[in-house]
Amino acid sequence: AQLPAANPWWQGTVGDLPNAINACTRCPLHENATQAVPGEGPPSADLMIVGEQPGDQEDLIGRPFVGPAGQLFDQLAAEVGLSRTTAYVTNAVKHFKFTAKGRRRLHQRPNGAEIAHCQVWLRAELEQVQPKLILALGVTATEALLGSGEDILRRRGSIEYRADGQPVLITLHPSYILRLPDPTLRARAIENLRADLRLVDGWLA
Ligand code: URA
Repeated sequence: AQLPAANPWWQGTVGDLPNAINACTRCPLHENATQAVPGEGPPSADLMIVGEQPGDQEDLIGRPFVGPAGQLFDQLAAEVGLSRTTAYVTNAVKHFKFTAKGRRRLHQRPNGAEIAHCQVWLRAELEQVQPKLILALGVTATEALLGSGEDILRRRGSIEYRADGQPVLITLHPSYILRLPDPTLRARAIENLRADLRLVDGWLA
């Protein structure tokens, strides 16, 4: 893939990224989050997995996809022979966005400005890792990577290309699946995510 243009905001290395991301105040989300959650994984991974933003547990622990969504993802990935330890795993937005309801912290979807401010970091990660394939989990990741997250149910399972030529495989977000109240729809969505994960190997071969 063609190299992306130099990042105008960040010229560090992948090793500096966690500290730099943690110090970020580009948008107000850092004010209420416990900490930023940078990506993790081999710095030269062939696959980059991009989620939406850290959830409650990720915010507390400081690592991506360690809560229920990550567990569903890991289970389905294992079923198709994909191990997340060989991938670089990150999120479009690095701080947890929530509203407090009593002692619970309820997830809120990041808005366009928050996604745009966090592009600095996603772009830095993409430049450092230069994956062969990016897996976009859900609407926010798809918006951050491709400019629009609309119509995801029709676009899932297909590859679209970033302006620099990097291929992005679009799929559903495991949190979206966990929130589906109808068991039949949930089972169908799980089947779809599993089918999309099966496509990854072909792109990495
Ligand atoms: N959902 C995400 O999008 N990312 C995480 O890290 C956890 C939950």
